[in-house]
Amino acid sequence: MIFTVAIDGPAAAGKGTIGRAVAARFGFRHLDTGLLYRAVGAKGGDPVAAAVGLVPGDLEQDGLRSLAAGQAASKVAVIPEVRAALVAFQRRFARADGGAVLDGRDIGTVICPEAEVKLYVTASAEVRAHRRWLEVGGDQSVVLAEVRERDARDMGRTDAPLRAAADAVVLDTSEMTVEAAVARAIAVVEQAMEGR
Ligand code: DC
Repeated sequence: MIFTVAIDGPAAAGKGTIGRAVAARFGFRHLDTGLLYRAVGAKGGDPVAAAVGLVPGDLEQDGLRSLAAGQAASKVAVIPEVRAALVAFQRRFARADGGAVLDGRDIGTVICPEAEVKLYVTASAEVRAHRRWLEVGGDQSVVLAEVRERDARDMGRTDAPLRAAADAVVLDTSEMTVEAAVARAIAVVEQAMEGR
């Protein structure tokens, strides 16, 4: 069975949590595509060469979840040649047999426009910064500034900017519990599966 769930949205909106829960519920594979860009940013040197030479083991190194790694990822992600080098791997993952959930910024718009389900998961910048701050600590205003800076870069770039696909279901989690957001996402997937 080929079935793709594309989950896009800004940093710290809950895409990863929802993606993992949906994948577990339906027995689908899950790819956090942000990790690809984080690994490229963390390699240093020429980002295009880093993207072309990326191997699965690169995604397992420590430190990829830090704020600094997120900023570095967002910077290399504006480079069209970096994005192009990562497309084929993501498309194969999305359309391999068995069902897949991919979360990122351009899954429903560029990587897998034919996805059976598209979710755009978002929340206010304040709520997202607060959630991220609970994880990483430090100065809350710095975390909010970092979230805003990354939003501006991810939404403002020319190649594959972050935006909701026209046919995406928008899930604003600002005032939702994790459980409620996961339940809503699962309901959307169930409905799409029944309609096939
Ligand atoms: O989801 P994340 O915070 O781990 O992503 C880190 C950065 O990688 C994000 O700020 C922009 C980039 N990214 C992207 O451009 N396209 C994706 N599909 C996923 C991430």
